[in-house]
Amino acid sequence: MNKLDICVIFGGVSSEHSVSLVSATTVIKSLDKSKYNIHMIGITKEGEWRLFTGEADEVIDFDRDCNKYAHAIISPDRSDRGIIVLSNDGIQKIKIDAAIPAMHGRNGEDGTIQGLFELAGIPYVGPGVIGSAICMDKCVAKIMFKAAGIPQANWVEVRTDSNGNYDESKLDEIEEKLGYPCFVKPSNAGSSVGISKASNRDELKAGLAAAAPHDRKILVEEAVNAREIESAVLGNENPVCADIIGEIVPAAEFYDYDAKYADENSKLLMPAPISAEATERIRNYALAAYKICECKGLSRVDFFMDKETGEIKLNEINTLPGFTSISMYPKLWEKSGVEISALLDKLIECAMAD
Ligand SMILES: Nc1ncnc2c1ncn2[C@@H]1O[C@H](COP(=O)(O)OP(=O)(O)O)[C@@H](O)[C@H]1O
Ligand SMILES: [Mg+2]
Repeated sequence: MNKLDICVIFGGVSSEHSVSLVSATTVIKSLDKSKYNIHMIGITKEGEWRLFTGEADEVIDFDRDCNKYAHAIISPDRSDRGIIVLSNDGIQKIKIDAAIPAMHGRNGEDGTIQGLFELAGIPYVGPGVIGSAICMDKCVAKIMFKAAGIPQANWVEVRTDSNGNYDESKLDEIEEKLGYPCFVKPSNAGSSVGISKASNRDELKAGLAAAAPHDRKILVEEAVNAREIESAVLGNENPVCADIIGEIVPAAEFYDYDAKYADENSKLLMPAPISAEATERIRNYALAAYKICECKGLSRVDFFMDKETGEIKLNEINTLPGFTSISMYPKLWEKSGVEISALLDKLIECAMAD
């Protein structure tokens, strides 16, 4: 069997740039080398594209070392169907059968790079332009969840101008509809960047000021006293949700950036110690959310479960979830019987079948 030429793309102009480097390292190490020729493109924090030719363990130092590598881009020209390398020796073309964006957040998970792959005619892992864009924008995603009748925390959307100013009457609306405590989040961000919890009007204002630099649209949501439950969905037209559902027990008060990536005391419980009935309900909501948001390939669908009432509320969909060796998405599939190399095979199959 001929090997497939796969391009793993990592980094990018995103607040989750460094998480992407860790995910890419795992993806590169886990891809079955007997099936795939692996090509790699790194995108610096500033947005420079390079053909990465180092070892998997060197991905983490890509930004520091980027001048070692030749400039390279994905050509939007369908007759190229791949990478164009611009080195001192001239132009070289590399044909690609499929791409894996091992990227998170803006410019990787939001439909932008997906649009480039569409133009290029290159199959790629994960949801398309519309699914990626819907799930990246928390406010838009909530409108879709509502349309599907899936329970979620109440929310208010706040728009700011380019200076971060907003209509002050929004503060009254938030206090009336949601009360305190509430969570303040940039609508388009990720990895808990710019997110805070507010317990009074001063904190709410401070939270809005902290979120505003990340996005002109801010989501304010009622706080749920919640356990954090995560599910793993895979597939295109007939997606499946992994049998095993996970629970995260954050080391911090909420699952902030440090608790996610720096604090080793955050625990993953697999399976989540919840009833079979709650597990089924979550799996069904996960599939319904995946479908209404036009997801394909993969997504991690995250829920809150009220600590007192047991009520389940959909939180968000991550279309390109963390893919480190300790990340929930690959772990849930591993526990459900699909180890990471086989999972990547399935994801590439999904990409090429679409
Ligand atoms: N409404 C809420 N109630 C309670 N905790 C919340 C709420 N919204 C967010 N959080 C906490 O903040 C974390 C990050 O929020 P989330 O919406 O998942 O954004 P991100 O895209 O950054 O992961 C959650 O995992 C949870 O710990
Ligand atoms: Mg989250």
